[in-house]
Amino acid sequence: MLDKESPVPMYVQIEEYLKLRMKQGEFSVGTAIPSERELTEMFEVSRMTVRQSITNLVTEGLLYREKGRGTFVAAPKVEQPLSGLTSFTEDMLSRGMEPGTQLISLKKVIAEDDIAQALQLMEGEQVFAVKRIRYADHKPMAIERSYLPVKIVPELDLDAVEGSLYSFIEHQKELSISHALQSMEATLVNKEDAEFLQISVPAAVIVIERVSFLTGEMPFEIVRSTYRADRYKFISEIRR
Ligand code: GLP
Repeated sequence: MLDKESPVPMYVQIEEYLKLRMKQGEFSVGTAIPSERELTEMFEVSRMTVRQSITNLVTEGLLYREKGRGTFVAAPKVEQPLSGLTSFTEDMLSRGMEPGTQLISLKKVIAEDDIAQALQLMEGEQVFAVKRIRYADHKPMAIERSYLPVKIVPELDLDAVEGSLYSFIEHQKELSISHALQSMEATLVNKEDAEFLQISVPAAVIVIERVSFLTGEMPFEIVRSTYRADRYKFISEIRR
């Protein structure tokens, strides 16, 4: 099946073979691919070559490994448009996925300089600092560290932070969310976040920082969202 004369390395040819079988639906989402030993025998290559192909596909997010169980076909990445100001809850519901949240911490603290500056606060003003793991169909997708000025949101209860913050702001507080500024960068996950996201290091993550405003240019949140790079693909429409 492999072309040993080809300038295309063996491990790339194996990757292409596996991708094709996935595309054709022969290896469907959640099913195990043949073991390393089976692939080694099938392609008559070394175990190292097979391992290289699998590692590359795991890095790309097409496969995932489970200790002691094998390697499985991953669900396609979530395609997240970069155009609308939507919430995590809305994003997941619109895809037919079940949003979930695990609250890690909720504290009222004095805003640090950079947070205060982004939120246009005076020195010494307080913010709620919220750290949450966000899930889709019970699988961790992102960690969100949000800061909200106490003067805008004087109380934040568990229902609000364990559900949708945007829904709380719009429906309970009756405030009107208007627009946001975002930046996006790639980085390697740190150990703490890797545990929250249930990924093994080293792994890439995509960090999006968002400062969101209410109507009237009043910033109401700054959020650092750390997304699993193997689960997300960001999409934007561009025009000439
Ligand atoms: C997205 C954004 C965050 C925002 C969150 C609100 O994930 N990246 O900046 O705070 O949505 O989501 P929810 O209303 O579900 O809490």
